[in-house]
Amino acid sequence: MQDKLLALKDEALAQIGAAQEVRQLQEVKVKYLGKKGPITEVLRGMGALPAEERPKVGQLANEIRRQIEEELEARIRELEQKQLEEKLQQEKVDVTLPGRPVREGTTHPLNGVIEQIEDIFLGMGFKIAEGPEVESDYYNFEALNLPKNHPARDMQDSFYITEEILLRTHTSPVQVRTMEAMKGQVPVKIICPGKVFRRDTDDATHSHQFMQIEGLYVDEGVSMSDLKGILLQFAREMFGQNQQIRLRPSFFPFTEPSAEVDISCILCGGTGCRVCKHSGWIEILGSGMVHPWVLERAGYDPNKYTGFAFGMGVERIAMLKYGIDDIRHFYTNDGRFLSQFGRI
Ligand code: PHE
Repeated sequence: MQDKLLALKDEALAQIGAAQEVRQLQEVKVKYLGKKGPITEVLRGMGALPAEERPKVGQLANEIRRQIEEELEARIRELEQKQLEEKLQQEKVDVTLPGRPVREGTTHPLNGVIEQIEDIFLGMGFKIAEGPEVESDYYNFEALNLPKNHPARDMQDSFYITEEILLRTHTSPVQVRTMEAMKGQVPVKIICPGKVFRRDTDDATHSHQFMQIEGLYVDEGVSMSDLKGILLQFAREMFGQNQQIRLRPSFFPFTEPSAEVDISCILCGGTGCRVCKHSGWIEILGSGMVHPWVLERAGYDPNKYTGFAFGMGVERIAMLKYGIDDIRHFYTNDGRFLSQFGRI
C-alpha cells in the first residue's frame, strides 16, 4: 500500500511538472486530491490493514497530500508569473514609434480681435460691461433719443419679437443701462462688446448678426479732444504706430456733435488705393459727445457732466487688420480659414 502511495506521488508530481497552464494544474488537483481521487481511495482501504500499519500509512498519505499541494501551489505561482511576464512583454510600449499629433484648436479671429480691443481699452482705464441681446424698445431706441416713428430708426432695420421687445440693433443700450446702474456716480468708463442684429441681406460686407464694441466715458470735463486722443491711441495700438485718424461730421440721435472716424488706409498708408477707394482713408466707427438729453434721462446732470461714446463693428476691424474680403468667412466655420489665425 505504501508503494502504491509513493507511485501515486511520483505520478502526480510528474504531471505537475509537465503542466503548462494553470487550468491543467487544477485538473491535477481534482484528480489526485479530490474526494474520489486515488489517495482518498487508498485511505479508505486502510480498514483492511493490521492496526500497527495504519498510522504509518495514514501519515505517509498525509505527507504525500501536503507535498502535492505544495508543489501545485508553487507551480501555479510560477506559471502565473510567466503569464504576467509574457503579457508585459506583449504590451511593451514602443517609445520610438512616431506620435499621433493632436490637432490644437485656434482662437476664432473675432474673439481674438475682441480680446485685442479689450486689452487696449483696459490699458486706458476702461472696464468691460455687458447687456442683454434681447432688448426692450426703450433701451435700444427711446432712451437713446430715438422715439417711435423717428426716421433715424430706419438706419437700423430691426428684428422685433413683440411690439416692445427686439434683438438689439447696436450695443448703445448698454450705455444707458450702465449709467442707470451707476446712479449718477462718475467716472463711467466702459466698453461693451457683444452681438447685434439687423434685418440686412447677407453679402460680402453685411451680416444680419455681427459684433460691436461700444465705448462710453462720462465725467466732469470730458471733451471731444479726449475722444480724439483715445481713438488715436486705439488706432495706433491696433493698426500700427504710424496711424492717423480723421473725424468727419455725422449724425446719431444719441450724440451731439457726432463724428464718423476714419483711419489712414492700412494698405497704402494714405496715398490712395483700391481698398480706400483712392481717398487714403477708411471709416472704422461712429462716435460723438453723449447727447445731454440721453445723459439726463439716464440720471446724469448734463450741466455738470459730459461724455463721449463710440461704437465699432468688430468684423470690420478684423477684416481690415487681416485683409479678409468677405464677412461670411467668420461664420461658416471653414477650418482652412480659421486655422490661419493660430492663437492671436
Ligand atoms: N450705435 C451706433 C451704430 O450702431 C454707433 C455709435 C455708438 C455712434 C456710439 C455714436 C456713439 O451705428
